[in-house]
Amino acid sequence: MNQRVILITGANRGLGLETARQLAAQGHIIYIGSRDARKGKMAAGTLKDHAVTSLQIDLTDPGTFPAAASYIEGQHGRLDVLINNAGVMLDEDIMADSTHNVKPGILKQSFLTNFFGTVELTNYLLPLLMKSVAPRIVNLSSNVGSLTMHSNRAPLMKTFAYNSSKTALNAYTVHLANAYADTPLKVNSAHPGWLKTDMGTEYAPMEVSEGVETISWLATLPDDGPSGGFFHKQEKIDW
Ligand SMILES: NC(=O)c1ccc[n+]([C@@H]2O[C@H](COP(=O)([O-])OP(=O)(O)OC[C@H]3O[C@@H](n4cnc5c(N)ncnc54)[C@H](OP(=O)(O)O)[C@@H]3O)[C@@H](O)[C@H]2O)c1
Repeated sequence: MNQRVILITGANRGLGLETARQLAAQGHIIYIGSRDARKGKMAAGTLKDHAVTSLQIDLTDPGTFPAAASYIEGQHGRLDVLINNAGVMLDEDIMADSTHNVKPGILKQSFLTNFFGTVELTNYLLPLLMKSVAPRIVNLSSNVGSLTMHSNRAPLMKTFAYNSSKTALNAYTVHLANAYADTPLKVNSAHPGWLKTDMGTEYAPMEVSEGVETISWLATLPDDGPSGGFFHKQEKIDW
C-alpha cells in the first residue's frame, strides 16, 4: 500500500501541521483535523499543492466526530491511518512540580483532551480504520508520561496533569494493541522529542520538522512492524 488516507488531529499548527506537510509531500491523502474550522481551512490552504482537506474535529465535542468520519468514508470507504496528535499542556509552570498542588480543573481538562477525547474519537473511528488492509494508529505521547523514567528519577518535567494524561494514553495504546492483536491493526505510542512549537517553546532543542520522523515511521509500518510499543526514532522507550 503506497498512498494512504491519513487523519491527523490538531493539525492546524505545530507538530500536526508539519506532519501533514511531510506526509502530503510523500503523496498521501491528508485530512487535517482542527477544532476551529476556520483555522483548519487556513492550514490546509498553506498545503494547497497537495491532497489536503480540513475537517472540524474537537476532541472535547464528540458531536464533531460523525460528520468528519462520514466525509472520509464517503470519499474513500476507509481510513488507513489515524494520528492522534491533538493535545494540551495546561500546567501553569512547566518548570515546577505540580503534583501536590495541581488545580483539579487543569487535571480534568488535560485528561478531557489528551485521554478521554482521544480514546472516544479513536473508538468511534475504529470501524472505518478496520476497513483498511493495513490500519495504523499513532498516539502522540511523551517521555514525560513514562512511569519507568520518573521512577528512575530521570530529570523530566513534573507537570503532573500533562504527564499523567500521557501515561493514561499509553495505557490505551497497550490495551488496544492487545484487543486487536489478531488483526492487521497496529497501534503505538510515539515520543517525538522536545520540539520548538507553541507547546514545546523556543527553548526546545529539536526543530518541529525532526519530530515527524517517529510519527511517519509508525504511520506507515510494514505488516511485520511492531504494535503496542512506545517509540522514539524507531527505538523502544520505557513505559
Ligand atoms: N512539542 C513538544 O515538544 C512535544 C513533545 C512530546 C509530545 N508532544 C505532543 O505532540 C502533540 C502536538 O504537540 P505540539 O507541540 O504541536 O502542540 P501545540 O503547538 O500546542 O498544538 C496543539 C494542537 O492541538 C490542538 N488541540 C488542542 N486541543 C484540542 C481539542 N480539544 N480538539 C482538537 N484539537 C485540539 C490545537 O488546536 P488549537 O490551535 O485550536 O489550539 C493545536 O492544533 C501533542 O499531543 C503533544 O502532547 C509534543
